[in-house]
Amino acid sequence: MEKITLGSKPMIYPMPVTLVGADVAGKPNFMTIAFIGIVNMNPAMVAMGANPSHLTCKGIAENGTFSVNLPSAKMLEVTDYVGLYSGEKKDKSGLFKVFRGMTKTAPMIEECPLNLECTLIQKLSFGGTDDIYIGEIVQTFCGEEFMTSGKPDVEKMGTFVFTMNDNRYFSLGKAIGKAWSDGKKYKIK
Ligand SMILES: Cc1cc2nc3c(=O)[nH]c(=O)nc-3n(C[C@H](O)[C@H](O)[C@H](O)COP(=O)(O)O)c2cc1C
Repeated sequence: MEKITLGSKPMIYPMPVTLVGADVAGKPNFMTIAFIGIVNMNPAMVAMGANPSHLTCKGIAENGTFSVNLPSAKMLEVTDYVGLYSGEKKDKSGLFKVFRGMTKTAPMIEECPLNLECTLIQKLSFGGTDDIYIGEIVQTFCGEEFMTSGKPDVEKMGTFVFTMNDNRYFSLGKAIGKAWSDGKKYKIK
């Protein structure tokens, strides 16, 4: 296979699509974030790369809390809107029905199937475009209708993913295997 070099690109394809929320001067604000992932099992922790000039980042700095909300494909347009316009220019506080958990200052989106309530553990700045925000997930909320046998079910949630540079959103396909299980059938050639 011939390989074409593309330079230094932030390409882990596809990327998750999330809505990250924080209170700014007592009002909820949200930004769309794709540079995000789980980085520790116990305690459950998340890390995201975000430009500190975003209004939501100012809210995270203000309260030391934030939320990570997973939108369904039905919410694609509002999710893109949140990522297109800053709360500095357009008031995004009324876009969603907001609920709160134990931290009180991490606004979570009722319409999203899954919500993570987080406290900021550390912010790393290294002179790049983005800072790295590391949060502990202190609580996880899932709408009952999106669960099967007591577990969040991604097929019911209808979450979607994103590819950068070509700027496209994709829905997820069907489940194709079982983790920590299918590898047992593998035969070394
Ligand atoms: C699909 C998508 C993914 C994005 N991912 C990120 C990201 O990972 N990090 C980031 O800093 N900004 C990201 N953005 C841009 C912010 O969401 C955008 O600048 C937003 O308007 C900031 O809002 P705020 O200023 O109200 O906080 C993304 C935007 C879109 C549309």
